[in-house]
Amino acid sequence: MAVEVKIAVNTLIWPVCLVGAKENDKHNVMTAAWVSQVSANPLLVMVSVAPGRYSHDMIVRTGEFMVSVLSAAQQEVSTFCGSRSGRDVDKIARLNLQTKPAEAISVPRLSGCVANLECKVTGQHTAGDHTLFIGEVVAADVAAADVQPLIMYRGKTVSMR
Ligand SMILES: Cc1cc2nc3c(=O)[nH]c(=O)nc-3n(C[C@H](O)[C@H](O)[C@H](O)COP(=O)(O)O)c2cc1C
Repeated sequence: MAVEVKIAVNTLIWPVCLVGAKENDKHNVMTAAWVSQVSANPLLVMVSVAPGRYSHDMIVRTGEFMVSVLSAAQQEVSTFCGSRSGRDVDKIARLNLQTKPAEAISVPRLSGCVANLECKVTGQHTAGDHTLFIGEVVAADVAAADVQPLIMYRGKTVSMR
């Protein structure tokens, strides 16, 4: 593939999020930037997760996931949760991430994020080397409007300011 094609695709702007899954007592989070709203009514979002991720089969088996939108202050959380696997490390304990109960699913919300979207899987589609999980947002919370999100642009995670 031409280098220019990859560079061009990387000018798309993605929100840097943690996708949470919980199965029995095991709660795991992974960094995901390929996240988007895909329907207004019903309100559906999509997360793109590679099948090799530990989180992948947790989402398949439980039918639920949490999207926690990271703030610009959470760069290190993004890097750690995007480079270590829940197979090998308890990322939530290691980073001392604070959780709070969700309203409508069993995956906890994360404190200190821009927003938490509680999602129930309504569809699952293979797209190349990733699986698109479509989730209906059944409950959510959001921080004050002036909390800046962490975004991914041209291959780097940056704040909007
Ligand atoms: C900024 C950033 C964005 C990422 N976005 C995605 C993504 O959208 N989908 C994906 O499958 N992996 C993505 N990753 C890689 C996973 O977060 C990484 O493989 C992680 O270790 C998987 O964790 P798990 O094995 O505990 O599920 C991203 C990593 C980083 C650092």
